[in-house]
Parts: sequence; C-alpha cells; structure tokens
Amino acid sequence: MVSHTEIQASNALINDATAPRTAVFVGGTAGIGQLTIRALVATDASVRIFIIGRKSAEERMNVFIQELRTTNPKAEIIWIEAEVSLLAETKRVCAVIKGKEAHVDLLFLTTGYAPFGGRKETTEGVEIAQSLEHYTRVLFILHLLPLLEKAEAPRVVSVLSGGMEMANIDLDDIDLKRPGNFNVMKAQTQYMALHTMVLEKLADQNPNVAFIHSWPGWVNTGNVKRGRDPNSFLSWLIWFTLEPLIWLFATSDDVSAQMHLFQCTSAAFGGRGIPWNGKPGVTSLGKETDGLFLVNKNCDCTPNAKVLAKLREEAQGKIWDHTQDVLRPYL
Ligand SMILES: NC(=O)c1ccc[n+]([C@@H]2O[C@H](COP(=O)([O-])OP(=O)(O)OC[C@H]3O[C@@H](n4cnc5c(N)ncnc54)[C@H](OP(=O)(O)O)[C@@H]3O)[C@@H](O)[C@H]2O)c1
Repeated sequence: MVSHTEIQASNALINDATAPRTAVFVGGTAGIGQLTIRALVATDASVRIFIIGRKSAEERMNVFIQELRTTNPKAEIIWIEAEVSLLAETKRVCAVIKGKEAHVDLLFLTTGYAPFGGRKETTEGVEIAQSLEHYTRVLFILHLLPLLEKAEAPRVVSVLSGGMEMANIDLDDIDLKRPGNFNVMKAQTQYMALHTMVLEKLADQNPNVAFIHSWPGWVNTGNVKRGRDPNSFLSWLIWFTLEPLIWLFATSDDVSAQMHLFQCTSAAFGGRGIPWNGKPGVTSLGKETDGLFLVNKNCDCTPNAKVLAKLREEAQGKIWDHTQDVLRPYL
C-alpha cells in the first residue's frame, strides 16, 4: 500500500517542469475526474486542461472553470462540449484537440456508471454504459495516441475497475444484445474484462505510453444513483442498502483526488514521472515498464494474474477484433 503521506510528498513535487502540461479529461464534469482536475490545478503548475462533457454540464462547468482560474491563474482551462457517449462525437472532439495541440501528456477517462436501470442504447445502437466505459474511452485513446506519442512521459489513466476482472464473460454475445442476456452484474463483468483486455493490447503496442486501469474503491460521488429510475423499487433498495455503506466506507474526496493525481504523475508506474523510491509498480504481465498497470484504491498494482491469463488465452483476440469492428467507422 502506498501511504497517503507518500502520495502527498510525491504530489508536492508537481510543478511547471513535472506536471502534465496538456491534459485531456473525459468525465471531468463530475466525480473523480472533477476532483482530480481540482487537485492538479491546486498544485499551481502551469497546465492546459481540456474538459470534455455534454451540454447539460455546461452551466456547472462555467462555475467550476471560474473556480479553477481563481485557484491557479496559470492554468488554462478549455471546455469542449460533446455528447461523449457517442462515437461520432468522440471522433469530432478528438479532431478539435488534434487541430489545437502538438502533444498530449495525460488522457484521464472516467465516464460511466453501472446500468442498474437495464439496457439503454445510444442513437448509435451501443448500450450507453458500455459506450461510456469502454468504446468511447478506447476511441479517445486511439485518436489521441499520435499526440500522446509526442509527449515526454505520456500517460493514459482510465478509472473503472482495474484488477477486478472476472473470467466468466460472454464471448458469443460480447455486447449483450441478445434478448434476456443483459443484467447489471453481467454488464459490469463484461465491460471490465473488455476494457482491461483492450488496454493491455494497446499498452503492448505503445510502450512509450504508460497505461493505467484504475479501480477507485468506493468514492461518494453519486455515481451509484446514475442510470436508473429514481422512483423504482431498485432505487429505493440501493438507497436503503448500498448508499449508506458507500457513505460510511467511501474514500474521502481529497484522498481520492490525491491518489489519482499520484497515478497521473508518479514514476511508480513505468519509471517516468515524479521520481519514486518505493516499490515499483508491476504491469499486468509482471514487468516494471511497458505495459498496463492495474491499480487499486491503495495505489497498489494488482495484476489479477490467474484471471487475466485465462482471459488472454480465451478472450483477448476476440475482444480486440470485436472492439476494432465497432470502432472502425469512427477511426
Ligand atoms: N465512485 C465510485 O465509487 C466508483 C467505484 C468503482 C468504479 N467507478 C467507476 O469509475 C468511473 C468514475 O466514477 P465517478 O464516481 O467519478 O463517476 P461520476 O461522478 O458519476 O461521473 C461520471 C462521469 O460520466 C459522465 N456521464 C454519465 N452518464 C453520461 C451519459 N449518459 N452521457 C455522457 N456522459 C455521462 C458524467 O457526466 P455529467 O457530469 O454530464 O453527468 C461524469 O462526467 C465511472 O465509470 C464509475 O462507474 C466508480
């Protein structure tokens, strides 16, 4: 476990020279993304931050951006409105960033929720949570990789469920489209495995970029309230059972923000970044560099070796090909 003191000490070294100078946050309109932006800006470093989010967040973002500019006048914050559950919109917004920037140091991805309310599709025919937690995240990475490759110590941090993968996924119906084949547990199991398998392959193909799939533990962001009818029996049940547990046991906002800032900047994950003298993190393939780091709520690397070996052998090829097929029209 990396202690909070070690994390704070490392984050205290973030400055103009060590900060990710250009960072793109998809999901920075709320929760862990927003907390991490606030912590990054509070370092006082000179940073340019793109926040990508949907129209409904715009008013909230005006207030937030004003707060960030007051905290750190050196921080340049650029808001780009985009419906980030859509693949076409993801492609469009990446073209805007590519038109403005020569490099990207950090891509931080946090969109999504557990689809408690059942299967709901985007206008592109993709289940919304799957699009947010896997497909659009991967599409952002693929489009921005050329800019990430041009950075000194580029990093992709995708916050979802790294290390929690399970092997029992459905390879005959990867998108769980068949009638009766969708429920929240199955969807979450499916999406976390899809995401880790594709990130691992991308990390392998792009050794200059550090990839982290992070599992944040419980953070009381209200994420559990998303994607369901607030008046349903299920909502009432979650309110009565899960929400009090999250309230009691969640990692605090500040600790979560500092942990994710550490994941964005420390050399603990791959050797580049703020120098780290502790135990180096290991990738999902057991190496200290060049790969995917599955990082848990204590900032420990959790390679989940047994499950991943099985997924690698039986599922990775199919998942990769299927993800490519879905994304191809938007590449
Ligand atoms: N918080 C936890 O305890 C926890 C635990 C394990 C895993 N996770 C996962 O980690 C990720 C980050 O969690 P978080 O707590 O930071 O989540 P959050 O506070 O709920 O923020 C989720 C982000 O996703 C965006 N989003 C949600 N639905 C959307 C939609 N239909 N279309 C477009 N954008 C949408 C939100 O945008 P708006 O601001 O516009 O709504 C927001 O930026 C999520 O995938 C979550 O499932 C969270």
